[in-house]
Amino acid sequence: MSVHIIDHPLVQHKLSIMRDKRTSTNKFRQSLQEISMLMGYEITKDFPLAYEEIETPLQKMNAPKVAGKKVVIAPILRAGLGMVDGLLSLIPSARVGHIGMYRDEETCLPVFYYYKMPANKDRMVILTDPMLATGGSACDAIARLKEDGFTNIRMMALVASPQGLKAVCDAHPDVDIYLAALDDDLNERKYILPGLGDAGDRIFGTK
Ligand code: PRP
Ligand code: URA
Repeated sequence: MSVHIIDHPLVQHKLSIMRDKRTSTNKFRQSLQEISMLMGYEITKDFPLAYEEIETPLQKMNAPKVAGKKVVIAPILRAGLGMVDGLLSLIPSARVGHIGMYRDEETCLPVFYYYKMPANKDRMVILTDPMLATGGSACDAIARLKEDGFTNIRMMALVASPQGLKAVCDAHPDVDIYLAALDDDLNERKYILPGLGDAGDRIFGTK
């Protein structure tokens, strides 16, 4: 397994906008979409190429095209939805699954409520969720995907706590994780510090 922290200046700039409590819902959502596209560039960096003969207006050539990676984007509802459009703008042929989970407010443990993924289990899954706090939601979502037969899974998050990252690495060492930032800690309510607050509420304007 490997952990990739995307320290590109544009990603870091946009993440700072998202962290700022004065940022509007509209700007928060837009920044998440833009970061997801930039992170998507990194997550697809090792996709293999195959060469195909084409003709330019001047001559024939062997031209490289992305080969063989069929992708399904799998957002953890709700906040993971905010990362889908950015990825789709890079990989328009990707399928989109949905994994419904919320964190119980008392126990902070994940509760499943919905699961729908494409039938073809050979596809690479890009699991999306901006927040990896305790890591419970990500661990359970990955376990569910594996139970369903998916074997090639990557996770794209925005911000992780050290505890959450360790939990996912320990439970699923075969899953590569892409992050924009590794933060400092969790508070007593298991929110990431400094974090960006409740991602779902900030994306959808529900608080
Ligand atoms: C948030 C977040 C993750 C989860 C992270 O979702 O989007 O799914 O909490 O916490 P964990 O790592 O401790 O499991 P939330 O339960 O708030 O649901 P929502 O996206 O529907 O608001
Ligand atoms: N869920 C969030 O949206 N933010 C956190 O910091 C932790 C869980």
